Amino acid sequence: MPRALIIGSGSEIAATRLTNDQMARVVDTNDQWIRERSGVETRHFAPPDVATSDLGVAAAAKALEAAGVEKDEVDMVVFATMTPDHYFPGCGTILQHKLGLGTVPCFDIRQQCSGFLYGLQLADAHIRAGMARTVLLVGAEVHIGFMPWTQENYDYALGVSDVPPTKEEREWNSRFRHLVVLFGDAGAAVVLRASEDGERGVLDHDLHGAGADYEKLCVPGTGFKHRPYTSPEQFERGDHIPVMDGRFVFKMATTHMAAVAKTVLERNKVTSDEVKMVLMHQANKRINEYCQRALNLPDEKVPHNIHKYGNTTAATIPLLWDECVRDGRITPGDLVLMVAFGAGMTWGASLVRA
Ligand code: COA
Repeated sequence: MPRALIIGSGSEIAATRLTNDQMARVVDTNDQWIRERSGVETRHFAPPDVATSDLGVAAAAKALEAAGVEKDEVDMVVFATMTPDHYFPGCGTILQHKLGLGTVPCFDIRQQCSGFLYGLQLADAHIRAGMARTVLLVGAEVHIGFMPWTQENYDYALGVSDVPPTKEEREWNSRFRHLVVLFGDAGAAVVLRASEDGERGVLDHDLHGAGADYEKLCVPGTGFKHRPYTSPEQFERGDHIPVMDGRFVFKMATTHMAAVAKTVLERNKVTSDEVKMVLMHQANKRINEYCQRALNLPDEKVPHNIHKYGNTTAATIPLLWDECVRDGRITPGDLVLMVAFGAGMTWGASLVRA
C-alpha cells in the first residue's frame, strides 16, 4: 500500500509585524507579561487586502516549487482554516482557482489548531486508498479580523497615527487581552505524494475529538444557531470575537498533547531518542515546555517559532516543518512527531518519516 510522503513545503508570513510593545499602545498589557505567559514576542498580521486564501496560495506555490511538482499533477486539495475568506464557500476551491489547478476535489476542514494533523490523515487515507496521488495540504489563517480594536487604534499601535484610543476603546480592547496577544497570521503548505518506499512517509496518526467543553474555546456569535446568524447586537456584545478559558485550555492541551504523543510513540515502538524532531502546535511556549518535560526531550528536538509569529492556528505545524527542512534540521529519513491541540476540542499526533 502506498504511503503519503511529504515532498515539498512552503510558507508565507503576513506582512505587518506588530511587537508586544506596539500592542500595549492600545491594549492594557505589556511585553514582560506576554513573553513570560506565552512566549510570544512579535506576530504578523495581514494587510486589509490579504485574505486567508492569499496566504495559502503563496505558501502552496512555494511548496509546489520545492517539491518540483507541476500544477496539473495535483489531484486533491485539503485546506484547513478557522478563518475562511467567506462563510461559504470554503478556501479550497478559491485556492484551486487562484493557483490555476485542475478541477480536483477540494476539501475544507475546520479543526482549528489540530487542522493540519486532521488534514494530514485525510490526505494520507486518500493516498493509501489509491484515490489520490499528489495532495496539496494547506493550513492558513488571517486572525486580524478577530481583533477588537478599530483601524485608527491599529494605526496608532503601528505608529502611523497620532490619535490614541479613547478610554472606552482601550477598555474594550483590553477585555480581550488574554486572547489578542496570542495570535498571528500566516499560511503554510505541504505537497504529499504517494510513495512505495516502505520506510518513508506518514507512518501513523492518533486523532481525537471531544465536544463536551467546546464552549470554553469558541466564537459564540455569527453562527446558524442564531436567527439571523449575525446581528448588530452580537457585535455590540463582542460575540464575534472568540471566548477562551485560558487556564482550562492550557490544562487540556498539556494533558492530551503529552498523552497522545506517548501513545503514538509506544504503539510504533519508537523511543524519543529515535525521533529527530517533535513539532508541537505553537499556542503557548509553556504548554510545549510542559510536554517536552513529560516526553523527556532535549531542547534541540523541540523547535519553537511562537516568539516570532504567535499562534497561527492551522499553519503552525507546516510552518515549523518548512523552517526545519529549509535550515537542515529535518532531512530525508528523519523521524518526526507532530502534536497538536485545538478548539472543538480536538487533538492528535502524527508520526512521519521525512
Ligand atoms: N496582559 C497583562 N495581563 C493579562 C493579560 C495580558 N495580555 N491577559 C490576562 N492578564 C491578567 C489577567 O487579567 C489576570 O489578572 P488577575 O490575576 O489580576 O485577575 C492574570 O493576568 C492571570 O490571568 P490568567 O488568564 O490566569 O493567565 P494565564 O497564566 O492562564 O495565561 C494564557 C493566560 C491565555 C496565556 C494561558 O492561559 C494560555 O495560553 N492558555 C492556553 C490558550 C490556548 O492554547 N489557546 C489556543 C487554543 S489551541
